[in-house]
Amino acid sequence: MEFAVVGQEQEVYEDPLDLMDEIEQLKIEKDAKILAHFYVDGDIQDIADYTGDSLKLARDAVSIESSTIVFSGVHFMGESAKILSPEKTVLMPDLQAGCSLAESCQAPDLKAMQDKLRAEGRQIQTVAYINTSAAVKSLCDWIVTSGNAREIVERIPADQEILFVPDQHLGRYLMEVTGREMILWPGSCMVHEIFSLQDMLRAKKNNPGSVIIAHPECPQNILEVSDFIGGTEKMRQYVASVEEPTKFLVATESAMIHPLEKIAPRHEYIPVPGIMESTGETCACNRCPHMARNTLQKVRDCLKHGKPEIVWQDYFNQAKEVLERSLLK
Ligand code: 13P
Ligand code: SF4
Repeated sequence: MEFAVVGQEQEVYEDPLDLMDEIEQLKIEKDAKILAHFYVDGDIQDIADYTGDSLKLARDAVSIESSTIVFSGVHFMGESAKILSPEKTVLMPDLQAGCSLAESCQAPDLKAMQDKLRAEGRQIQTVAYINTSAAVKSLCDWIVTSGNAREIVERIPADQEILFVPDQHLGRYLMEVTGREMILWPGSCMVHEIFSLQDMLRAKKNNPGSVIIAHPECPQNILEVSDFIGGTEKMRQYVASVEEPTKFLVATESAMIHPLEKIAPRHEYIPVPGIMESTGETCACNRCPHMARNTLQKVRDCLKHGKPEIVWQDYFNQAKEVLERSLLK
């Protein structure tokens, strides 16, 4: 699926508290629950019925009993929710909310790579990060998230080679922690790719005793100097486990600070800035422009109008099999 270049439309200002009241009312009227990823705006996380990482939200989508889900996140998340729970109506505040990782791996290119490796006589299993389209998932043997990747990779028989798509950084990190060689697809997350190592080390020096926590989508140079590496839910659990008030330098999408502050308000959280490749200057690019497409107004509008909706596609059937095997068993 193609996504338009991200450019935020201007919305007419509406009072967030009024919008929140309206949304609460609509949730009841429409028998809907809101699922929100930790990277969407804090206000949306606050009105959500369920918040979480990619793994938890995919599982929540299956277990909740309402007939409608509003998935506040990015396209592959809403698509996975629909695939795992076809009987529910899955709405998204903005269908244009894509993902640079999902974009970097298109189904025909993956198929060509798999055919080439198999033609060379290689026995491969393809492991895809959940940040992929359903068309890509339908070509894969396993789907992983930051929350279950290690466990899934460890299930793959040693006589099989692993083709890991599309996040080269997560793949390289998994090679390190599991000791398994992998063929890596050259994709990366536009947010985690550009943290400024220099600014992060300067912040660490200026804040004695501070602790760097990083998402495994970050490149090796960031992970090498991090004190804790984990997906968003693991980060949350980690800061909650630290009793002593601590300064954390957070190397992931900046909206993540909202759930960290909520679960462990005794700590201070300092976002690691991004850096612009062209000028070398720091920027606010630690905010994912796709996640930022989710606004309270769009949540209200999609509830009110019952669209945009993720519509079932034929190729979802095959993606369903692999998603269920990987995330629900
Ligand atoms: P997790 O919340 O599963 O760690 O995923 C991070 C992410 O980049 C989602 O787009
Ligand atoms: Fe994709 Fe990165 Fe945005 Fe997550 S933060 S949705 S991986 S572009």
